[in-house]
Amino acid sequence: MTFLFNSTEERARVFAVRFAEELPDIRFVRNGDAFDPADVRYLITWTAPDDLGRFSSLEILFSIGAGIDQLNTDALPPHVLVVRMVEEGITRMMQEYVTLGVLALHRQLPLYITQQKEARWQAHDLLPATQRRVGVLGLGMMGSAVIERLKPFGFPIAGWSRSPRSLDGIRSFHGKEGLAALLAETNILICLLPLTPETVGILDADLFSRLPAGAGLVHVGRGQHLDQAALIEALDSGHLSGAVLDVTDPEPLPADHRLWNHPGVILTPHIASKVEAAPAAKAVIDNIRRHRAGLPLIGLVDRGRGY
Ligand code: GLV
Repeated sequence: MTFLFNSTEERARVFAVRFAEELPDIRFVRNGDAFDPADVRYLITWTAPDDLGRFSSLEILFSIGAGIDQLNTDALPPHVLVVRMVEEGITRMMQEYVTLGVLALHRQLPLYITQQKEARWQAHDLLPATQRRVGVLGLGMMGSAVIERLKPFGFPIAGWSRSPRSLDGIRSFHGKEGLAALLAETNILICLLPLTPETVGILDADLFSRLPAGAGLVHVGRGQHLDQAALIEALDSGHLSGAVLDVTDPEPLPADHRLWNHPGVILTPHIASKVEAAPAAKAVIDNIRRHRAGLPLIGLVDRGRGY
């Protein structure tokens, strides 16, 4: 039985050592090695190889990342389990990045960066965190972890999810009406939603118009959540005051795209969070053991729901 590894060589080295130690009965191969596709029981990858149908014995498809939307799982037979990466490192880095983004918008960093470029010494009014309302779209593992990290700053925090969820110390909303209610009281909006047919394009002109004037956006979901033209329009009109974006559509963003040099935008190249090889290998090995023991897998995706 074979485990097929399709990610960076740096990660492959770590995974190979762990597999040899902990699951010696499984043959560990890299994409590019010689192997029989019909023996592949487990596959880890970022995007699905085109010829997924070759892996006739595939049981589990692991994403090397937290998201699975890029995997095109519709092409898979229904019995194949799809598992997203759940490991502490990704969550911690996401907490850091979102905190960075929220604080950057809270303290008007895009404006001060512009002023610095113009050697302009000019102070603007400061708002205490207790008066800056943060709204989080997506209350899964990442969303909850981010909320815990933001709480000590004193921001009033609210969250929204597709189905009802209650989290300690925050107001939570759900469904379509809940979204409008959350937006109406959000000064900094964080998008941590999974990408599904229902969430494609959710960050659009209508959504921006429901935010109070001067609101900001921290977007760490997927590029396809965001209508980039609508964001630029909302920033240009002054309705939104700034955005911190880690994802775009397409990636990489073309060099001549307006988002690169928009004064209201801080843009990073999808680096909010990175999977670390050692904890990722541990998570995958634990899940294979759980599968063998008939236990539920950590990070198992509901394929119907898409996350
Ligand atoms: C990155 O975006 C991931 O899904 O891990």
